[in-house]
Amino acid sequence: MPVRIGDDAPNFTCDTTEGKVDFYDWKAGKWAVLFSHPRDFTPVCTTELGAVARLKPEFDKRNTKVIAVSVDALQDHFRWVGDINEVCKTEVNFPMIADPDKSVANLYDMIHPNASDTATVRSVFIVGPDNKVKLMLTYPASTGRNFQEILRVIDSLQLTAGHKVSTPADWKQGEDVIIGSAVSDDDAKKLFPNGYTAVKPYLRVTKQPNA
Ligand code: BEZ
Repeated sequence: MPVRIGDDAPNFTCDTTEGKVDFYDWKAGKWAVLFSHPRDFTPVCTTELGAVARLKPEFDKRNTKVIAVSVDALQDHFRWVGDINEVCKTEVNFPMIADPDKSVANLYDMIHPNASDTATVRSVFIVGPDNKVKLMLTYPASTGRNFQEILRVIDSLQLTAGHKVSTPADWKQGEDVIIGSAVSDDDAKKLFPNGYTAVKPYLRVTKQPNA
């Protein structure tokens, strides 16, 4: 069964560059980003892992742990980390899962046979503190991901988990948000005492509550 938004993220145990990991124990009630790579020693992946290492303080600020997976063996990961650190002038500071038997890749449906029988596509899963899948993204092997976008989605998910709002297209932290459609106008006046603008009856815009 494919994993879908709202499902329990499948738990697994695996070998990583930081030792054995049980996914649920490792994330320990935090947010988590699980992201896959087609192969070790490939150029786009090298830049992606370096980018995530440099953004680690931003993930930390959001109480979010990151973990990468590719279908290569642990000894390859260790050699590749040396290259990533050198090329991207950083230190890989999160675990990389060795998944040579593709058990994690299969659990999360990261192998797309019409793309490649052997390599994972570039998948991203954001998993909430409740271990539910909150976001799934799938990119082709030829396109490196935008990790600022992943941070932006985490900001939106964390905001909308605590307030009855949604975030509009291209929203960024601090910008106006949309009042949830289940909130009546009367309740909106109480919940958002600074007021709101009804652009349409179904599109009510207000200041970000926790900004
Ligand atoms: C890359 O990371 O550069 C890559 C990996 C697999 C296929 C194509 C590109």
